[in-house]
Formats: sequence, structure tokens, C-alpha cells
Amino acid sequence: MASTYGAAQVLVASNRGPVSYTVGEDGSLDAKRGGGGLVSGLSAIGSDADALWVCSALSDGDREAVRRGVGEDGVRMLDIPADVHADAYNGIANSVLWFVHHMLYQTPLEPVFDAEFRRQWASYEAYNRAFAEALAEEAAQGAAVVVQDYHLTLVPGMLRELRPDLRIGHFSHTPWAPPEYFRMLPDDVAGQVLRGMLGADRLGFLTERWAEAFTACAERFAGGLGGTRVGVHGLGADADFLRKRAHEPDVEERMAALRQEIGEGRRTIVRVDRTELSKNIVRGLLAYRRLLETHAEWREQVVHVAFAYPSRQDLAVYRDYTAEVQRVADEINAAYGTPGWTPVVLHVKDDFARSLAAYRLADVALVNPIRDGMNLVAKEVPVVSDAGCALVLSREAGAHEELGEDAITVNPYDVTGTAAALHEALSMRPEERAERSKRLAAAATALPPAQWFVDQLDALRG
Ligand code: G6P
Repeated sequence: MASTYGAAQVLVASNRGPVSYTVGEDGSLDAKRGGGGLVSGLSAIGSDADALWVCSALSDGDREAVRRGVGEDGVRMLDIPADVHADAYNGIANSVLWFVHHMLYQTPLEPVFDAEFRRQWASYEAYNRAFAEALAEEAAQGAAVVVQDYHLTLVPGMLRELRPDLRIGHFSHTPWAPPEYFRMLPDDVAGQVLRGMLGADRLGFLTERWAEAFTACAERFAGGLGGTRVGVHGLGADADFLRKRAHEPDVEERMAALRQEIGEGRRTIVRVDRTELSKNIVRGLLAYRRLLETHAEWREQVVHVAFAYPSRQDLAVYRDYTAEVQRVADEINAAYGTPGWTPVVLHVKDDFARSLAAYRLADVALVNPIRDGMNLVAKEVPVVSDAGCALVLSREAGAHEELGEDAITVNPYDVTGTAAALHEALSMRPEERAERSKRLAAAATALPPAQWFVDQLDALRG
């Protein structure tokens, strides 16, 4: 692979890479490319920029690709042993660090930092070390490295030791926990996480609030930021891509199918999420039930279109949550449904074209996370909405910092309050809805993904 200090001038490191592989029946490998902010960011700096994306093999197909030497230009996939990856990704990143930053623990019984946790933590260290070593091997002298997210908090510190010449950045796509919650971590682990992050020259966050929380943790538990700079880059929606994609024939087809499911002349409350604990889908359903209970005039007149796509199904708590979403939706349909009206239309199979179709026809978008780094759905809906859409938005979503003024704000725990917000949103005059959507779309696209990425690189080099 790389010669001594290979040629890459810009390196990105993330757990999930831009491509994934599956092994077909005949043993052939099928590659599938993903999207997202980093993909458009990297394409913005051009193919002659000597960029390299270092990511982890996540599936058997990915591991097989690495073993066969199959890969794409500009991507290096690390064949981290499956058990080490599972401990690091499921055990530590998604069950501990994600829970801490999103404040998801039910504290009377969890977390429990026992011997099993220590064993998994050792895997998290090994997995971070594998990234640091690969980056050290691939980076040209003085190259810029941008490390992504809570999966890789130890990488900046480890890489700094291996390659003091590099410019190292780290970007968090999640919230950061406030000190009182962060200190739940064992002291030595909390210290390792903070020192690992502080190995970077510059740390990026999605909002001021998360940047301040990190700074407060560094001051309380790590003696301050030292020489590390902290900056905010609020990732925006990719308007050009979304508007074009949302008018392709498959989206039109999905719109027709959805309209049939919803029924002629009815209003729609749309939500689109991964089935993620932090997204608060169950309380969203409870708020909708409350709306039907207290505002009988909406019965038969509105449909809650809820897309809850599978996520992190290796974790029992996610499987249980998925089941609970289904159960509450069924309960509402049993209690209120009539022969011609299904109050909740729930889809659990991921379908991007159908998501865009729902965005286009939504009267109301419900985005009520418990806590969220940004939430791009809140930004995408106003951009593609056909006739304007009222946005019911949690004050705990990062996007609220930019969209709060034209959204209807909710406390995500307050089901009664959310029901009232849904009523207000459904009752909004069409002209007002359209005007607000326009302003929301402008705010949502202020920093498109390509610019978001280039700004970070400039700031890191500057
Ligand atoms: C969040 C994280 C990302 C992650 C995504 C999907 O947005 O910040 O790093 O890729 O969730 O989660 P997954 O576990 O499927 O990669």
C-alpha cells in the first residue's frame, strides 16, 4: 500500500466509509457507494487533491474485499478483527459514548462499568490504534488529517505521538455531554477520551452548545484546552442535490403510492428517522395520540406518516425500541382507526426515494429528538417541500440553533406540549407555512456540505 509516508495530503478517518461490499451468491463482490456530508466535501476538493479516506471494514463483505485486495481509489479500509470491532463499535462507541453524549442512560440501573466494560475498552483502544497507525503510514509530510466522531476519540492523541508533523483535526457529529453527565465515565477513561481529543490541533462541533460542553469538560477534567482550538461548523443541507433528486421519477412514483395510503384530502404529519433511541419516536406517537384524543376534529383528517428505518440492530435495546415503536403505532391504529382511515402509516424499510416523497408532501414535519448533534431531516424537509411545511422541532436538536425562529419549538419530553404544537402546526395558514418554509430553507442551506468541509480544512491549515 503506502510507501514511507505515502502521498496523501488530506486524510479523512471515520468508522463508516464511503463504500460497502456484499458477497454475491456466485462469490463476486458488489460495491455500494454511500452519500452524506463527507462524500460531497471530499469531492469538492477535487480528485487531484491526493485525498485518502481511511475507514473500517464493517461487514463480512467488506473484510472479504480487503483480503482480496479489492478497493476504490482514495479509500483504505482497515480489516480490524470482527470481535475487536464489535467491542469497540457496539460495546463502547454505541453503548457508552453515544449514550453519554445523548444522555440516554436510565441511571438507576445503568451504566455499569465492570470488568466486561474494561475488556471492551481495551478493544476500543486497539481499534483507535489501528486507525492512528494507518493514518501515520499514509500521510505525506505536513498533511491534514480530519478524524470523525466518537468512534475515534483516541486517534488524535495517538497520531500526534506517531507523527508530530501532521495537522490533526477532529469533528464531532454528535452532541457533547455536559460535565455533570460526562463525569459518569470512570475517571481514567474520561481522561483518556479528553486527552485523545486534545491531541488534535483543532476540534470541530456542529453547534456552539456542543463546543461549549466540550470546553467545559476539558476545563474541569483535563486542565483546559491547552493549545487545541475549538470551532463550530453547522453542516447544512445539500440543496442542489436534494432538489434534483426529489424530482426524479422514482420519487414521483412513491408520492402517488403515499397519497393512496394517506387518502384524498388529508393532512400529513411526517417524520423520517433511523430507529434511534435519541430520536424520540415513541413520544412522538404518544403526542399524536393525545392530539387525536383532545382534538377530535382532526380524526379522519390527518395521517401520521412515520418512517423508522433499522439502525444498530445488533444491540438489544435498539431491537426493543423498534418493537415498542411498532406496538404503539398499532395501538393507536386499533384505538382510532376506521375502515377508511389508518391514523399511523409506519414504514420500517429504508427507502430514500420514499423519504423524499414524504418530505415533498408533508404538511407538518415532526422532529422531536431527546438530543441530537444537528438533525438533517429538519433541514432537508423545508428545502424540498412542495407547498411549504410547518416544522415542529425539539429545542434539544442542534438544528434548533439555526431554525428555532421559524419552527414551532417543543420540549421533547412534554407529550402534551408536543400535541399542542402539532395542533398549532396543522392549523397554520398555508401562506404563513410557505413563508416560514422559505426562511427555514435559507437557514438550512447556509453551509452546504462542500463548503462545510473546505472551511474545516482551511481553519486547520490556517
Ligand atoms: C450518527 C453518527 C455517525 C453515524 C450515524 C449512523 O450520525 O454521528 O457517525 O455514522 O449516526 O450510525 P451508524 O452506527 O449506522 O454508522
